[in-house]
Amino acid sequence: IPVEPFDLVIFGGTGDLARRKILPGLYRRLADGQMPPEARIIGAARSDLDDDGFRELVREALYEYQREEDLDSEQVETFLGLLFYVTVDAKGDAGWEDLKKLMNPDRVHAFYFSVAPSLFGPIAERLKDRGIADDEARIVVEKPFGHDLESAKALNASLAQHFNEKQIYRIDHYLGKETVQNLMAVRFGNMLFEPLWNSQYVDHIQITVAETVGVGGRGEYYDRSGAMRDMVQNHLLQLLCLIAMEPPSRYDPDAVRDEKLKVIRALDTVRPDDLVRGQYLAGPSGPSYLEDVGNPNSLTECFIAMRLAVSNWRWAGTPFYLRTGKRLKARTSEIAIVFKDAPHSIFDVPQGRHSNVLSIRLQPNEGMEMSVTIKEPGPGGMRLIDVPLDMSFAEALGEQASDIPDAYERLIMDVIRGNQTLFMRGDEVEAAWAWTDPVIADWESRGHVPSPYDQGSSGPDDALMLLHRDGRRWRDIR
Ligand code: BG6
Repeated sequence: IPVEPFDLVIFGGTGDLARRKILPGLYRRLADGQMPPEARIIGAARSDLDDDGFRELVREALYEYQREEDLDSEQVETFLGLLFYVTVDAKGDAGWEDLKKLMNPDRVHAFYFSVAPSLFGPIAERLKDRGIADDEARIVVEKPFGHDLESAKALNASLAQHFNEKQIYRIDHYLGKETVQNLMAVRFGNMLFEPLWNSQYVDHIQITVAETVGVGGRGEYYDRSGAMRDMVQNHLLQLLCLIAMEPPSRYDPDAVRDEKLKVIRALDTVRPDDLVRGQYLAGPSGPSYLEDVGNPNSLTECFIAMRLAVSNWRWAGTPFYLRTGKRLKARTSEIAIVFKDAPHSIFDVPQGRHSNVLSIRLQPNEGMEMSVTIKEPGPGGMRLIDVPLDMSFAEALGEQASDIPDAYERLIMDVIRGNQTLFMRGDEVEAAWAWTDPVIADWESRGHVPSPYDQGSSGPDDALMLLHRDGRRWRDIR
């Protein structure tokens, strides 16, 4: 279904994110018929370019980052015809009048801030003071949304001076992933799972976001952040919230976000014993973390694993184990809900097998798998084995599954439709930092040194111990 005609201004329109994700995503929406032909995309940045120069840059980006089967030269030309460019000085006066003249007053207006957070305030101020953005306009801001609670509050305050909360779309691209939304559909659209979705039936939950890439190229940013700020404070906590939250009364932005906020507020702080931090060593895929960031004394983690407790009625006693890291064995993101054993086994099998696991795969091969116990076929008597009830979206949905939009495309279309459900509200971001800050402060005060781990492994051995000592094991990263 096409969205309304819009003017989308991308500040930082020549930058890396715009070229890799935002513009190729918009191209796909056009090719898919969702973006109306009257829509316009206006790149705004410091570089001295004209419309044609910008179109050339975007053409190159499309050919570099777009899947070949999605490229159609006619569509590419149509798309490039929707692009315009203005040179603006985010902190000065230059370019803002030109931008104003370019905007069509009868459209939905969206402004994507794909720039350093220090420019959020100055750009917001100019958009408002110069009458470029009105009270209906939407602004989209990227992570990192702050470095800690204080800076996040300052960012929220500087945006709030010019825009109200209903206009602000804070992107967490994990919320735009197909399976993440499916998680809500599965939980709240079926009778099957929800009655079991609590500490009485769930033994524990594992959330793994493993990457094979290192931090090369982004070393400077990364070394100031680390996995806790870069991944846990936002993506992993958001996943945890969707699993742990109470059913919202409606699928509506504030109803969903109110419930997520309650989860973040119910998180206990992490005890030092429940936390493992690591750095990868040099190996077959490249230099060590310390070499990658050019800082031999760095104490920043590029791997983190932890055991979390959600202190509320539903989850008391059910641990949530989270882990994420770079240069691991495989690129895989998975949420696993590990159910308890049946209370009494009539078969001759040991307890602690945890044969029922609902695994929700975010990437690759999006899908869900539920493992169940059955009888091993054949005459060997009542021997039990665990087999997967597999639902790969690609298999179940055929062609439809190959049309699954990338997270960014979906989220940008939601901005145009004015749907904030998959965006973080200001209070949520602040609550997430309020939980993160003391955990970081604690390891910093102890001068904690991350444990080394091999490239291509599952992380430091201490991370395995985190579950072993509870009589549990991590699922394989594969
Ligand atoms: C980003 C982080 O938010 O997410 C990166 O800054 C990380 O460090 C990336 O690599 C992972 O996203 P995805 O979609 O590739 O899993």
